[in-house]
Amino acid sequence: MKTLVLNGSPKKEQSDTMHITRAFLAGMNEVSPQEVSIVHAVEKHIEYCTGCFACKLNGGTCVHDDDMRAILEEMLDSDLLLFSFPLYCYGMPAPLKALLDRTMPLSSLAMRKVGDRYEHVGQADFSRLHYMMICGCGFPNSQHNFEPAVAQFKQCFPCNHTVITVPESPMFNAPEADVVTKPRLELVKQAGKQYAQTGTIDETLLKEINSPMIPEEVYANIVNGNVENAKEI
Ligand SMILES: Cc1cc2nc3c(=O)[nH]c(=O)nc-3n(C[C@H](O)[C@H](O)[C@H](O)COP(=O)(O)O)c2cc1C
Repeated sequence: MKTLVLNGSPKKEQSDTMHITRAFLAGMNEVSPQEVSIVHAVEKHIEYCTGCFACKLNGGTCVHDDDMRAILEEMLDSDLLLFSFPLYCYGMPAPLKALLDRTMPLSSLAMRKVGDRYEHVGQADFSRLHYMMICGCGFPNSQHNFEPAVAQFKQCFPCNHTVITVPESPMFNAPEADVVTKPRLELVKQAGKQYAQTGTIDETLLKEINSPMIPEEVYANIVNGNVENAKEI
């Protein structure tokens, strides 16, 4: 399977969320060797979409000649598009959103009704593509936090999508938290294995992965304590 990781964290490989993504890919790799390519959105030259719709009328050619041309080709050559990003203001970070906006050339201006909504008609056949969202966040609560980002992702990719969300993710970059992060990454690895074997992940496992690693109040107290200590330095 060819997987294209679209990393939205400006911290690139140092991203908290990339710990989760790497564990997931390791699980997939245990089932069968994976071909993985990683795009760090922040280091690419990706102009903002101008909204001119020229791409939808020009058979898929955007007015911008930047890194997005190669990224679109890579997307079309993949089996799995894995969006790995931290939650920013309940959505995805701007560099990844700019990349997502620039996928406009993949569909034409024509609209068709699918169920109770309309969508643009694809300029190619994407039926074999699968979509994965892996999202970490800084608050301890998963409820009333991830929902807008998850809703956007599912709306953009209505078919073949899977979502993994993990609260308290700064702990993945804190070695002193290994005692709770390592077991969590093992669960994520298990999810990667399941996904490679069946194309889905057990709901119970997803729920467990999405739960706080330490009690919400304890996490908040540690963060608040660190903030106070930082003020004194
Ligand atoms: C601009 C900005 C907005 C953020 N918004 C949220 C948010 O809405 N909810 C949340 O739980 N955490 C929020 N965070 C915290 C990050 O999601 C958290 O620090 C995450 O672990 C960073 O992951 P990364 O290392 O993969 O970039 C925000 C952080 C920044 C810098």
